[in-house]
Order: sequence, then structure tokens, then C-alpha cells
Amino acid sequence: MSKYLILVNKNHKFKDNNFHLVETNSAYAKVYLEEKTYQQFLKLKDYIKKKGYDIDIESGYRSYEEQELVFNETKMQKGLEHTLKYVAKPGYSEHQTGLALDFCLKENNNFYVDFEMTNHSVLEIVASVSFQFGFIIRYPKGKEKVTGYGYEPWHLRYVGKKAALDIYKNNLTLEEYLERIEHNARNS
Ligand code: DAL
Ligand code: ZN
Repeated sequence: MSKYLILVNKNHKFKDNNFHLVETNSAYAKVYLEEKTYQQFLKLKDYIKKKGYDIDIESGYRSYEEQELVFNETKMQKGLEHTLKYVAKPGYSEHQTGLALDFCLKENNNFYVDFEMTNHSVLEIVASVSFQFGFIIRYPKGKEKVTGYGYEPWHLRYVGKKAALDIYKNNLTLEEYLERIEHNARNS
């Protein structure tokens, strides 16, 4: 199975991996990503640029400590219920793998992050083409019970092109996709 198909969620704690992280040239922040994830993001970014939108990386690889910071800051600002719906506890975030990123939008020299992009047409475009670059919308609308998180159209997860296509075509989550693979392996 592809090395990119690792599962980190509320029930699967992050385990150290040996992915090679690279520094990105995000204009938003100092961001690191797994190498291939970054290469593919740059291709997606170029494609989206041709459609008239400038996306960048708000957040990518996060250490345990950085995730702890995000969790605690969100909790202070928005309360525990919101935080548990949108932010993983430290040790349980796939941002720790380097394969996940939150994109933001730059328009008229302003950056728009997460909920500030709500209903923006760029979200639809990214959702409909990101599989071509090996990404999935990791926390889709209507799958909150499966993923354990609320809808996050900005959070992309690199899984590779084959898995991304299957997941997109069949309207699956990573959880459901991996379960299918295991099921098929058991029955073959
Ligand atoms: N927003 C996702 C769930 C994370 O914090 O990893
Ligand atoms: Zn994210």
C-alpha cells in the first residue's frame, strides 16, 4: 500500500514517520510540508491561478507542540465544543504527518483563512480538481460522523493520485476508503 495512505484521526494516534519535510515559500506563514505534498500543492496552486484565484498555505506540518498551541488558542477564542469539532488534540492531528495542509486565499492583498472563505467559489473549484493532484477534502460535508470533524473545505490531505481519484469518484472519506481496501483484502 502507498506510504501516503496513513490514517490519523480521533481513534488513530499519529505515529512517527520518516517523511522528508521541506520549507515552503508560503507568503502567509513559515510552513513546512512533506516534499511530494508540497510539489503537488504547487501544481494545484498553478492550476487554480489560471482559474483566477491565488491560493497559498496557511498551515502545513505541525509538531505536537504547535498542535497543542492551535488547540489551546482555539479553545480560548471559540470554546471547547467548537474546538473539538474542528481541531484535533495534540498527538491526533494529521498535520503532524506533513501530508495535510490548510489553504488560504489571497485577494486584493488580504488573506482569507478557514471560515472567512465560506461560500467562496474558490472552494468549489479546489474541491472539484484537487484529486487530479493527489489531494482529498479530508473532512467533507455530510461525513462528520465518519471523520469525527466538521466540514473543513480548506483542509487538504495528500494521499496520491490513485487513492484521491477513487475517494473523489465514490464520495468516500479516507476512513471509508481504507476500510474498503481491508475488506477487499480479507475477501480475496
Ligand atoms: N483541523 C484538523 C482536524 C486538525 O486539527 O488536525
Ligand atoms: Zn487542517
